[in-house]
Amino acid sequence: MTDVAIETFAKIGGHGEIVRKLYEVRLALPDVGFSSFHSADGVHYSHAAVVARIQGKIVGIISYDTLEYNQSIFIYTGWVDPEHRRKGIYRQLIGKLKEIAAEKNVVRITGSTAFNNNDMQAVMTKLGRRPVAIVYEMDLNDAGDK
Ligand SMILES: CC(C)(COP(=O)(O)OP(=O)(O)OC[C@H]1O[C@@H](n2cnc3c(N)ncnc32)[C@H](O)[C@@H]1OP(=O)(O)O)[C@@H](O)C(=O)NCCC(=O)NCCS
Repeated sequence: MTDVAIETFAKIGGHGEIVRKLYEVRLALPDVGFSSFHSADGVHYSHAAVVARIQGKIVGIISYDTLEYNQSIFIYTGWVDPEHRRKGIYRQLIGKLKEIAAEKNVVRITGSTAFNNNDMQAVMTKLGRRPVAIVYEMDLNDAGDK
């Protein structure tokens, strides 16, 4: 199997390559476009990241934030390069995140996906996450406020 290198970033700010990749990835995510909840601008310099590389190329990424007030980690983006899916890369990224969580005394990892992103929901369930809420949204503009 190809060697995957896992890197961690406490803050993505100052790491232009990672910030650019996150914008690129989020614009391509099937979830973006459904709601502000998954909007492509959910990239912030203060977010942290776990990154997978093969021969220097970024092939997977999880961006997240640690929420001190409830000892949790919130995942903003989870993505693996289509050419490298189904090889356990996301499993490795989540594994690293769980190690980081343990070091920080975090008790819970939370994250969302679109209601119809069945693939991601299947992967989340496989990796031990469970569905806990459905988010409802109403747009208050000419098109949505009817
Ligand atoms: C979801 C995603 C991150 C999974 O990455 P991946 O590296 O292919 O996942 P892994 O290979 O680590 O798979 C983890 C487990 O999920 C399973 N799995 C992976 N893709 C699956 C799919 N499409 N359907 C069902 N199960 C799947 C694997 O079989 C594995 O389980 P196993 O170890 O018991 O066999 C990747 O498909 C992706 O980037 N999707 C598009 C981005 C996206 O929708 N992100 C969510 C927006 S919030």
